[in-house]
Amino acid sequence: MPVCRICGGTLSEFVDLGAQPMGNAFVSPQDPDDDAASFRFRLAVAMCEACTMVQLVDDVQHDQMFHQGYPYRSSGSSVMRAHFEALARRFLAQDLTGTDPFIVELGSNDGIMLHTIAKAGVRHLGVEPCGDVAEVGRANGIRVRSEFFDENLAADVLAQDGPADVIFAANTFSHIDFLDSILRGIKNLLAPDGVFVFEDPYFGDIVERASFDQIYDEHIFFFTARSVQDMAARFGLELVDVELLPVHGGELRCTLAHTGARPVSPAVTELLAEEAAQGLTEPATLSRFADAVRELGDSLVTLLRELRAQGKRVVGYGATAKSTTLLNYCGIGPDLVSFISDSTPEKQGRLTPGTHIPIRGPEAFADPYPDYALLLAWNHQEEILRKEAAFREAGGKWIHYVPDVRVE
Ligand code: SAH
Ligand code: TYD
Ligand code: ZN
Repeated sequence: MPVCRICGGTLSEFVDLGAQPMGNAFVSPQDPDDDAASFRFRLAVAMCEACTMVQLVDDVQHDQMFHQGYPYRSSGSSVMRAHFEALARRFLAQDLTGTDPFIVELGSNDGIMLHTIAKAGVRHLGVEPCGDVAEVGRANGIRVRSEFFDENLAADVLAQDGPADVIFAANTFSHIDFLDSILRGIKNLLAPDGVFVFEDPYFGDIVERASFDQIYDEHIFFFTARSVQDMAARFGLELVDVELLPVHGGELRCTLAHTGARPVSPAVTELLAEEAAQGLTEPATLSRFADAVRELGDSLVTLLRELRAQGKRVVGYGATAKSTTLLNYCGIGPDLVSFISDSTPEKQGRLTPGTHIPIRGPEAFADPYPDYALLLAWNHQEEILRKEAAFREAGGKWIHYVPDVRVE
């Protein structure tokens, strides 16, 4: 029986999304049965009965998900570029003001955040294990170590560069099953008054929106203020601030500091109280979530079958890792969604993991426009609807499925 990765407590499973491929294992049409494409694991989520950490029951080996050819590129969204530039400016103004400050980012990807820091001439280090994307970061002028962050790497960085005033991780901390080693490394590398800031999908938003496609191999942990506070304390760290962010379908940004080093913001107490009032970790809430997942899946498939019966042309928009869960759970293949338009060159020409829907460049979307477009990259809704205004003007309709299935 798997146990809680943070405290060793008993896991109580509340949703099972079946046998799933890896979310980013886009399939090459020349080699559709290679090891990565054929791999399946059971995608089920549980809550720890002791510390309330929500987590996958089974997981995929870390280096099987993150490797040389990992296709995800952070800078594909202009909203995310602006989001990380604003945060970098805040770090520069608030936290990187001492003599010769130093910032470390875990999962720096293509340099979307650190390039603003590098341009400001501030000492920094990106840690990005995936070789191809680390190289993109270097081309963007940032210093990158292409390795997995863990306690050993943290000790090495400390020896070479000294303590970090800021350690940052976006959409990365929740992706790592060995958080104990990461947190020991952070405790050791962080300067006495330093902060560890991380942002990841917020479990409260997932429950509220039934956005179950946030669940895939890379998302191992789903944080709440309560579970993060408990986890931090086990490693000599303290949750001193929280912010809810609108990006990526709703995220929680947490700030940790050495225990007692910084005052705790009232925002922490407020969010803890809100989570308790909502019963976010109550079994009844979790079982309602599991019911909502089933209902959402059923109504989407019903709609797509109706449209096919009417001879309508439906394509997908955004070959997200998230959509791997949705498409496989619902059994949506090329018969229901003929192709998916995506702006990432690394994904174009490939097929979706498990369901083998072809992925084409954005120019294919308008050539000619489909009758309906399934908005798989729903977390970028505003940006995409603005960019594709001509689709609606030409009579096209969007199919949304978060927080419920609707056509607009
Ligand atoms: N921070 C970016 C990228 C998120 S994708 C953003 O928010 O858009 C997650 C990234 O974490 C990937 O680029 C992956 O290679 C990296 N990663 C995975 N495991 C890691 C580890 N142990 N140490 C550092 N980076 C890691
Ligand atoms: P992302 O939001 O990171 O989701 P996930 O973490 O689930 O993979 O991915 C968004 C995808 O959508 C990415 O492959 C790029 C694509 N995309 C477009 O094709 N056009 C756009 O305008 C935007 C914003 C994204
Ligand atoms: Zn636990």
